[in-house]
Amino acid sequence: MPKTLLGLIGHPLGHSLSPQMHNEQFGKLGIDGYYHLFDIPEEELLKGVQALRQLGAAGFNITIPHKVNVMDYIDKLDPSAERIGAVNTVVRENNALVGYNTDGEGYLESLLDVRSLDQIKNANILVIGAGGAARAVCYALSLRSPESITIVNRTQEKAEQLKNHLEDIAAIKTASKEEAESRNHEYDILINTTSIGMSPEINNSPWNLENVKASALCSDLIYNPWETKWLKDAREAGLDTLNGSGMFVNQGALAFKYWTGKEPDRKAMLALVEDHLKGENNAE
Ligand code: ATR
Repeated sequence: MPKTLLGLIGHPLGHSLSPQMHNEQFGKLGIDGYYHLFDIPEEELLKGVQALRQLGAAGFNITIPHKVNVMDYIDKLDPSAERIGAVNTVVRENNALVGYNTDGEGYLESLLDVRSLDQIKNANILVIGAGGAARAVCYALSLRSPESITIVNRTQEKAEQLKNHLEDIAAIKTASKEEAESRNHEYDILINTTSIGMSPEINNSPWNLENVKASALCSDLIYNPWETKWLKDAREAGLDTLNGSGMFVNQGALAFKYWTGKEPDRKAMLALVEDHLKGENNAE
C-alpha cells in the first residue's frame, strides 16, 4: 500500500478528474501517495470516515452530499471552514482529522489571475446563488473588503441567511433577480455559483447580460462545459470571462499542499483538466 493514502468521498462521483490530477503530481514530485475515489452514499458517511481513519489516510477531499455533514465526524475545524459551514478538505494532523475549506481561497486565487486585489476591493460584486459554493466564495471575497456584494438566489431566504452570516465582515446586500438585473450597469464582477448551464443542461443561462458594463467580468464556477452558454454570450458581448477550472485546480492544489507540504504544478493540473474538458460539450 502507498505510504500516503488520500482520496475523494462523495456520491455519486461520476468521472471526477481529481484522482488523475493528484496522482500525476505525486508521481512528478516523487511522493509515495495515491488518491482514490470513495463513492460513499449519504447514510454511510460515518462508516466511510471511520474506515479512512483506520486505514491511516493522510486526508481526503469531500464533495456533494457530504460537505456539511462530515463536520460531525471529524475532530477539529479550521476557523474558515467553521465560518463557511462546510468542509472540502480533511487533513490528518497528529492523528486528529482537521477540516478545512479550500473552495473559497481556490476561487479567489483564480480571480486574482484576471483582476488585481485593488480592482476586487473597488468592485461591486454580484453573486448568483446562495448554496455551499456561494458561501465559500462570498467568505473569501468578504475578507478582501470589496465595495459591495449583492447576493441573489431563487430561494431568497437563503440569500438573507448568507448575508446575515457575513455582514459583520463585508458590505453585503440581497436583491430579487428583477431588481438586481435592473442594476446590471453597477456590477464590476458577476459570479454564477449555481448549476444553471452545467452539462447536460448546457443551453440554460443564469443571468441576463443586458446593460452590463463593458469593463465587467463574468465568472462562472462551472467548468463542464468549459464555456457555458452564459460565458459564451458574455465573451461575444465583449466582456471578460472566467470559468471554474481555475477554482477547481486551486482548491485541489491547496489541499495537496496541506497534505504533503509541497506545492504541486498548477499549470500541469490545469492542462490536464483542459485536455479532458475543453472542446467537449460546449453550448451551441
Ligand atoms: P453547491 O454546493 O454547488 O453550491 P447547493 O448548496 O445545492 O450546491 O446550491 C445550489 C445553488 O444553486 C442554490 O443557490 C440553488 O438555489 P436554491 O437555494 O433556491 O435551491 C441554485 N440553483 C440550482 N438550480 C437552480 C435553478 N434551476 N434555478 C435557480 N437557482 C438554482
